[in-house]
Amino acid sequence: MQNIIEEIIFNFSNNKSLYIGENVTIADHMLQTAMLAERNKSSDNLICASLLHDYGHFLVEDPDKLVDQKIDGEHESVGANYLRKFFPENIIEPILLHVEAKRFLARDHTYFKLLSEASIISLKLQGGPMNDDEIKQFKSKPYYQEAINLRRFDEGAKNPKVRSKKIEEYKELLISKLK
Ligand SMILES: [Fe+2]
Repeated sequence: MQNIIEEIIFNFSNNKSLYIGENVTIADHMLQTAMLAERNKSSDNLICASLLHDYGHFLVEDPDKLVDQKIDGEHESVGANYLRKFFPENIIEPILLHVEAKRFLARDHTYFKLLSEASIISLKLQGGPMNDDEIKQFKSKPYYQEAINLRRFDEGAKNPKVRSKKIEEYKELLISKLK
């Protein structure tokens, strides 16, 4: 089962493509998200979820092209479904819900103003801000609060000036969370 750990480290270490429309790589973006989770004294599970939340972008072909073609690659489901074989629900569910969390938070003006241009474009593709029914449904899901927390770290993790930690520094934590 440790192969998945090697694979994660490989994908992070070899990722050179920029996160859609941003000035950081997908790997740096996820590392920064995990660092923010740590700084906010999150649980180990949420730190892992933060670290892996966009793993689906490593698995779908050419995420930039999808956005250009105005297709939502549903990276959250791709990533969560793949990682579900290896990690428990309390890590997988916030990953799965992190796009819904953005649609939930997008109703809030202060949050909306934090969104980058690229994030506003993808929000549209993802269905835009939630309506009242969707809000109700979302709040009935276990882990929705974790997903909201993850999302807030996510938004703050696109800074090219931040020196990210190395994926290897999370190796022990990842191993400890394997199913
Ligand atoms: Fe993200």
